[in-house]
Amino acid sequence: MIVSVIKQKEIFELIYQAFRFVFSKIRTKFAIFFLRMRGYDISASVSLRGGNYFFQSTKGSIVIKDHVELGYGVKLFAGAKGKIVIEKNASIYDNTYIDVHTNLSIGENTLIAPFSYIIDYDHKVEKVKEKIKKDVYTEKEIRIGKNVWIGAHAIILKGVTIGDNAVVGAGAVVTRDVPPYAIVGGSPARVIKKVR
Ligand SMILES: CC(C)(COP(=O)(O)OP(=O)(O)OC[C@H]1O[C@@H](n2cnc3c(N)ncnc32)[C@H](O)[C@@H]1OP(=O)(O)O)[C@@H](O)C(=O)NCCC(=O)NCCS
Repeated sequence: MIVSVIKQKEIFELIYQAFRFVFSKIRTKFAIFFLRMRGYDISASVSLRGGNYFFQSTKGSIVIKDHVELGYGVKLFAGAKGKIVIEKNASIYDNTYIDVHTNLSIGENTLIAPFSYIIDYDHKVEKVKEKIKKDVYTEKEIRIGKNVWIGAHAIILKGVTIGDNAVVGAGAVVTRDVPPYAIVGGSPARVIKKVR
């Protein structure tokens, strides 16, 4: 973005973007400092765009490694016995919502597009007839491999493993494992082709 602004020589836009860049660097440093004080295990090189929300029920349950990018409004919840580990160079774009009660791993260089959802629990369906009790769940861990691309508005549900180098199409609802190098799409997600 900044390169195209420089090419167009839009001076006010350039000044605005430069201030915004510096301000966001300073704000990120403060945010990381306070998150670490609250017991989050976050590398100093992480980039946070603002509007993020983090919750962990146990200290150290959210681990974010070097050079991870979290877009605007990304929300991470590690409730119950939940643990979220985001490996280095992963990017999670704006407004993605991650809420887990067990383990979630996101591999190196993985990219998760905006407005995606990763949730590893259901309210117990058998209880629906009585009343959906908010504290009765079925839960199973999710594993997302290395160099995976998850398209915008995808939903990843409990128990799913996404293999390395796989692609999840925009809007997919992933209910079953995705093999490495597969491209899946639809609801429920099915293999539509292979990464060549
Ligand atoms: C999955 C995706 C990468 C596939 O792109 P592609 O390789 O060019 O695929 P094609 O357009 O050749 O489509 C192949 C088939 O899959 C279907 N398909 C493509 N994307 C699909 C999707 N997201 N969900 C369901 N089906 C999809 C096509 O309709 C086509 O079906 P057909 O053969 O019956 O006509 C792309 O469609 C997509 O969803 N991109 C995500 C974009 C995004 O979220 N960007 C955010 C940037 S961070």
